Amino acid sequence: MEGLVDEILRDVLTRMGGVDWCVTEFIRVSDRLLPQSSFRKLAPELRSGAVTRAGTPVRVQLLGSDPVCLADNAAYASSLGAPAIDLNFGCPAKTVNKSRGGAILLKEPELLHAILCEVRRAVPAHIPVTAKMRLGFDSPDSAIDCARALVDGGAEQLVVHARTKVEGYKPPAHWEWIARVQEAVSVPVYANGDIWSLADWRRCREVSGAENIMLGRGLVSRPDLARQIAAAKQGLSIPDMSWAGFQPTLVDFWQQARGKIAPRYAPGRLKQWLALLTRNYPEAVVLFSALRRENDCARIDAMLGVDTGIQTAALG
Ligand SMILES: Cc1cc2nc3c(=O)[nH]c(=O)nc-3n(C[C@H](O)[C@H](O)[C@H](O)COP(=O)(O)O)c2cc1C
Repeated sequence: MEGLVDEILRDVLTRMGGVDWCVTEFIRVSDRLLPQSSFRKLAPELRSGAVTRAGTPVRVQLLGSDPVCLADNAAYASSLGAPAIDLNFGCPAKTVNKSRGGAILLKEPELLHAILCEVRRAVPAHIPVTAKMRLGFDSPDSAIDCARALVDGGAEQLVVHARTKVEGYKPPAHWEWIARVQEAVSVPVYANGDIWSLADWRRCREVSGAENIMLGRGLVSRPDLARQIAAAKQGLSIPDMSWAGFQPTLVDFWQQARGKIAPRYAPGRLKQWLALLTRNYPEAVVLFSALRRENDCARIDAMLGVDTGIQTAALG
C-alpha cells in the first residue's frame, strides 16, 4: 500500500503470522527502464531473497500503461529476484489516473489484455504474473470483460477490490461481484475490500465464495487478523491480541523506522500506523493523541519506553 505498507510494516505484519505473501507498494513505470535503485527502494527485500524476515514472499507490483515498457521493467524486476510480478489496475488516485495508470485502464480491456500478453512474454515462465483490479471505473458493467482480458493475457491470479474507482474507499465493498468474476475466469480470484474483522471475513467468504482474500487496511489496523483468519480456516479460535501483547511490535516498528527513515519523516510513519490502530485499540487512541503533535524522535522514544543508544548518549 503506497505510502503506508513499506518494508518495515511488511516485516512486522508478516511476523505476526497468517500472511502467505505480500506485495510492494506500486512502482510507477512510465517510459523507460527503471534503474536497480528504484526497485530496491520500494522492494528492499530483493536484497535478501525477496522475502520478509518471516520468510514471506514479497511480490513486486508495477503500475503503468505502456505494454512494452512494463514488460521490460517486469523482466528486469524478475532478474533482480522478484518471485512474482503483480500489475496494478486498481489505483484510484487522480494524479495516477491522469497519466494513464491504475484504475483508469479498466476503461480499456484491450489494453489490459495487451499489457498482460507483453509482460507474460517477457517474464520467465516460472515467475507468476498476477493482477489487481477494481470492478470498473464508474460502473461494474465491464468487470467481467476486464477480468477475462487479464486472464486471457496470462494473469495467474486476480485480486479484485470489490468497488469501482468512483466509489473510492466508500463502504460497502460489493463482495457479490467477486463470485461473478470467479465464475467467469479459471484462475483463483482473491476477494479484497473492507475485511476488517473475523466476522467480516466470514461474511465475505459467504457472499463471495472466495477461499482466498487479500487484506489491506484491515491487517494494518489489526495486525493479528491474518493469523486469526488462518486459525479459523482450520476450525481453531485464538484470542484477540491485547495491546500489551502488541506493544513490542510497535516498539520494533518504531526502532526500525528510526534506523531507516529520516528523522523528520519517521514520526509521521508511526502516527500513520497508530491512526489506523485506533480503530481497534483504545490504548492506541490515548497514545495517538499524546503523540500527534510530537515530531521529536527522542521524545517519542521516551513516550514509547524505548531505550536506544542514541538516547543513552544524549543523556551523557
Ligand atoms: C494508503 C493506501 C495505499 C494503497 N496503495 C496500494 C498499492 O500501492 N497497490 C495496490 O494494489 N493497492 C493499494 N491500495 C489498495 C489496497 O491494497 C486495497 O485494495 C484497498 O485498500 C481495499 O482493501 P481494504 O479495505 O482491505 O483496505 C492502497 C490503499 C490505501 C488506503
